[in-house]
Amino acid sequence: MSSIGIFDSGVGGLTVAKEIILQLPNENIVYFGDTARVPYGIKSRQTVIRFSIENILFLLKQDVKLICVACNTASSFALPVIKNHFRAPIIGVITPGVREAVYATQNKRIGVIGTKGTIKSRTYETEIKQLDPKVKVTAAACPLFVPFVEEGWLKGEVVMSVARTYLKPLCAAGVDTVILGCTHYPLLKPVIQEVLGKNVILIDSAKQVAFEVKKILSSEDMLNRGKGGRHKYYVSDNPEWFSSLAQRFMGRKLTNVKKVDNV
Ligand code: DGL
Repeated sequence: MSSIGIFDSGVGGLTVAKEIILQLPNENIVYFGDTARVPYGIKSRQTVIRFSIENILFLLKQDVKLICVACNTASSFALPVIKNHFRAPIIGVITPGVREAVYATQNKRIGVIGTKGTIKSRTYETEIKQLDPKVKVTAAACPLFVPFVEEGWLKGEVVMSVARTYLKPLCAAGVDTVILGCTHYPLLKPVIQEVLGKNVILIDSAKQVAFEVKKILSSEDMLNRGKGGRHKYYVSDNPEWFSSLAQRFMGRKLTNVKKVDNV
């Protein structure tokens, strides 16, 4: 029975997997976290494209009918280049977040935060401008946010002070909407909200991504007709680390994580 394939550089994509499971409980899921090569956020475009192709080929071997690139860096660098090279539909996390942000902004000033790679690629900016050329985009890389989340530093003075520094240009630009353009950032929502102020809308694209997956599968008549999907988790290294972090990202520990070689 074919599945929905999801990949990320590591654990972060579980925030997207969680939403897909919630909205599509009868679908089988194959998740791949490239924990041997994480983080992608500081790697070059060519490297992220190569890793993404290898991850997709791995998922295709697991009989997947649709692939979700649940990593902002891979979606930014690789998706525009590779999306039409495979027979299975491939969707990323950028477009759903962009649509929601352009719809939400009142003053047409949108902030984007992400890894160094995501910000450097300017993919968010390009897609926002395509949808509404009048929107002013202010982007900022927040590289320390990923290790903070993985270490469980989700609040406190150190995190607040780093967030204040990173988000300064967004505050100065008067943005009313901010895209959380990295899988890990939804876990820092309270800190980010406090720094930006309660009136700023934070966009976490996971829900929209899951909705998009559902839309594609139903329009192509590819939804699973059986009841109760099965979920498989693969990583390229350190399954124990992945399982324990899953608690933070998914709200539950995963017991069935398998390590694979030669991805
Ligand atoms: N998953 C990555 C992203 O959303 C963050 C972690 C990494 O740098 O690999 O951009």
